[in-house]
Amino acid sequence: KKISIIGAPMDLGQLRRGVDMGPSAIRYAGIVDRLERIGYEVHDWGDIQIGRPKLVTDPKTGLRNLEAVVNANKRLAEKVDEIMENGHFPLVLGGDHSIAIGTLAGVSKYYDRLGVIWYDAHGDLNTVETSPSGNIHGMPLAASLGLGAKELVEIGGYSPKIKSENIVIIGARSLDPGEKQLIKEKGIKVYTMHEIDKLGMPRVMEETISYLKERTDGVHLSLDLDALDPLFAPGVGTPVVGGLGYRESNLAMEMLAESGLITSAEFVEVNPILDERNKTGILAVDLMGSLLGEQLL
Ligand code: ARG
Ligand code: MN
Ligand code: MN
Ligand code: MN
Repeated sequence: KKISIIGAPMDLGQLRRGVDMGPSAIRYAGIVDRLERIGYEVHDWGDIQIGRPKLVTDPKTGLRNLEAVVNANKRLAEKVDEIMENGHFPLVLGGDHSIAIGTLAGVSKYYDRLGVIWYDAHGDLNTVETSPSGNIHGMPLAASLGLGAKELVEIGGYSPKIKSENIVIIGARSLDPGEKQLIKEKGIKVYTMHEIDKLGMPRVMEETISYLKERTDGVHLSLDLDALDPLFAPGVGTPVVGGLGYRESNLAMEMLAESGLITSAEFVEVNPILDERNKTGILAVDLMGSLLGEQLL
């Protein structure tokens, strides 16, 4: 089995600088060694180029750094496409969550019915009309559904990348009014913290796995570290209290490993400036190990 790692050092999809150092923090936490020890052949493709574009907010739409985010995502989509073409498992390191637009643009071409697990405190389902912030990291799931600014929607040259019935959101506890409305309108499957507390993570993952298994031909995991409680993941730009634990998140990853369901993954929003001695970077690597089949015994 071959894994290809690609870094997207992007921090322009939101306002807290420093999440562009996420890929480095994850590499320094030992991701390559960790995966090689499991038995994978690991190829590190390095980082896509972001450059140092000027920070601009579009006066008409309020979108922040639209052009820079679009350009970076186009480059990421091409790299991910190349990794897929080679038959490797793509593992994308963020960067803020806006990079999921490029990852999904690169991956989804290879599937008729791509599923997505969105492991996140947020829905990232905002559009120009509903966004409270203008931050594009709050929009990637909407953009991948074909909703929002056309520059974002059309990355990769096709749309939509995914269908609403093939999405499962896990860990949500901060949804904006427009996102709640969209979830209801489209019937998107969401396990908020309420359901996770009630059912427990084992049941949530069993349901998620059997739901996606019968309707998809590949599943992308998009894991925002802010899904976890800030106690475990302090190095994120938009922390929300009352989040998922270290153990239940590793269990979720281990159950995904057992299922054999996941065909690509990305880990985003690790911000070393806000972190405590790379705690969040190390956590990301622990979760990647669990996802990719690391055994405790
Ligand atoms: N919903 C808020 C917004 O649209 C926060 C989004 C946070 N997204 C993230 N990927 N951390 O601005
Ligand atoms: Mn497709
Ligand atoms: Mn989030
Ligand atoms: Mn997110």
